[in-house]
Amino acid sequence: MNQMDGTHHIKTDRLTLRPLQAGDAPRVHAILSNWNVVKMMRPVPHPYTLDMAEDWISGNAAAADIDIACGFALLVNENLIGYIDIERLENGASGMEGELGYSLDEPYWGQGLITEAGRAILTHAFNDKGFDRLTSGHADDNPGSAKVLTKLGFHKTGQEKVWYIPRQCDVTRIAYRLDRSTWRAGKRQGGWKKP
Ligand SMILES: CC(C)(COP(=O)(O)OP(=O)(O)OC[C@H]1O[C@@H](n2cnc3c(N)ncnc32)[C@H](O)[C@@H]1OP(=O)(O)O)[C@@H](O)C(=O)NCCC(=O)NCCS
Repeated sequence: MNQMDGTHHIKTDRLTLRPLQAGDAPRVHAILSNWNVVKMMRPVPHPYTLDMAEDWISGNAAAADIDIACGFALLVNENLIGYIDIERLENGASGMEGELGYSLDEPYWGQGLITEAGRAILTHAFNDKGFDRLTSGHADDNPGSAKVLTKLGFHKTGQEKVWYIPRQCDVTRIAYRLDRSTWRAGKRQGGWKKP
């Protein structure tokens, strides 16, 4: 099940997605202090401080207020286990584009949770927020993220070397894209379940 309620919460079978809030900073800090998580996050410094988590959350809230981002905490039984967000990139002649990002606390990997959250935020982005296309990407040594994006219906568009702040080196990043029309066609065919 995936439904919005009046307070911008989205409920899926196992998760509640609710807007990130200031009190989430200690959990976000804990999750992004794990090297196995942060090494995959291109723009996130390591070590990651509590101040950085607070700044990121307040920036996200400010961006949400003017509708250029939406970031959700992922909750299981009130416990924050990760986040998923979309940042608006452009709104030009070719339509509105956003970039999808996500991270999950390591004990929760491999249970299909980001795929479940991803399906919910795609519905929100394409049906409620008016995005025409989403992009995303992952480091070439992150096969779990590759699988998530493929299961969500994204297709590869290329690759390039980019600077990964936590690793302090260039890493090959695989780029992906999903258009609203492709997403709708996939849903009509029963969803993007198989890679
Ligand atoms: C990448 C990440 C978000 C995936 O979340 P998740 O909830 O574990 O993903 P899902 O369970 O929905 O799907 C992952 C799939 O990849 C597979 N997978 C995971 N690690 C893998 C690996 N090393 N090699 C091959 N497949 C792998 C899983 O088995 C699963 O496959 P399945 O659908 O057949 O069961 C999570 O591992 C994470 O937060 N990692 C650290 C931060 C990060 O990488 N963020 C994204 C940056 S692009």
